[in-house]
Amino acid sequence: MKHGKDRALPKSDQVDSSPSPDELLDRIPRVLLADIPTPLQEVPRLARTAGLTKLFIKRDDQTGLAMGGNKARKLEYDFAEILNQGSDVVITVGGTQSNHAVMTAAAARRNGLDAKIVLGGPGVTEYQGNLLLDVLLGAEIRYLENDDRNDSLASAMEEWAETLRREGRRPYTLPVGGTTGMGALGYVRAMRELAVQLGPGPSQIVLAVGSCGTFAGAILGARLYMPEARVIGISVSRSREEIAGRTMEVMAESARILGCEVTLTHAGIESYDCYHQEYGVPTDSGREAILSCARLEGILLDPVYTGKSMAGLIDLARRRILDPAVPTVFIHTGGLPILFAFERGFRDLAQCTMIQSPPRRESE
Ligand SMILES: Cc1ncc(COP(=O)(O)O)c(C=O)c1O
Repeated sequence: MKHGKDRALPKSDQVDSSPSPDELLDRIPRVLLADIPTPLQEVPRLARTAGLTKLFIKRDDQTGLAMGGNKARKLEYDFAEILNQGSDVVITVGGTQSNHAVMTAAAARRNGLDAKIVLGGPGVTEYQGNLLLDVLLGAEIRYLENDDRNDSLASAMEEWAETLRREGRRPYTLPVGGTTGMGALGYVRAMRELAVQLGPGPSQIVLAVGSCGTFAGAILGARLYMPEARVIGISVSRSREEIAGRTMEVMAESARILGCEVTLTHAGIESYDCYHQEYGVPTDSGREAILSCARLEGILLDPVYTGKSMAGLIDLARRRILDPAVPTVFIHTGGLPILFAFERGFRDLAQCTMIQSPPRRESE
């Protein structure tokens, strides 16, 4: 028998040397930005209120970057690309209270880069919440008054980038929500992390959906690491149809990067668009969810993303659309600075009595 280096192996002996999606996930460069793994915290009192046997909160509000949130995981991949391209300034877009914009600015600063952001929304009367953090981080802001449409923001960003290029700068533009197939890998990793924390078996995972990157990464990650998990998105802005289309696009791009295929149809994407009215506008059920979570578990949520998605979780549980016997995980995607921009919506709850201080004694 001929033995030699170049001897072709019989088909059955051939070893597939191409890396697995799991290996690729570790090989793709990223810049460390998030404090991970984040804790998985059981919340028994909230579970009882919702009628669930076991409820956990995955504390991605504790990822650390500029007060935490989901974007830290996504930006790790984007910043590897930004640094690789030798960019010296990062520009991104968002609504007035964009978490993504703040976290991008913080990530830029952590890597010695300049940050510029195009924001849009109602007129600015005070620099509160995330807007204050943008200011502290020294991000230059261009503000589109009364217009937060994605295409208006994107064209203002491109125009700004063009001006910067003419001035000899090397800008990198990040789309709304930082949603790219590459960025969504951050949530593929998060599912790998969660699979270890939760152990094998069926589960129900609920999270807020905006620009769909977190949802896409979570679905793909669940396919790879938690095959018995049901991933459920609660919309804060888009219709179910829009979510299905955009999530499929982002997921296909992430799957291509990891060299795997996802066989999923629009119908296989479970999302609910009945827990918001308008993006950025608080709802009564969101407020109730914020209060339940704070008062039963000491965990804070915000009125734009996590309050609404928790309201969705509680309602789906009470209507038995969630299986009460299956462990449920709420991904806390962060956004807490937004709370401070909505202080007026919670003033009525203050239990504060003004009292007189006792008169000072002569000797004091
Ligand atoms: C706090 C918070 N939760 C959830 C989301 C939704 O994430 P995605 O845009 O990836 O759908 C965002 C997006 O801005 C967010 O800031």
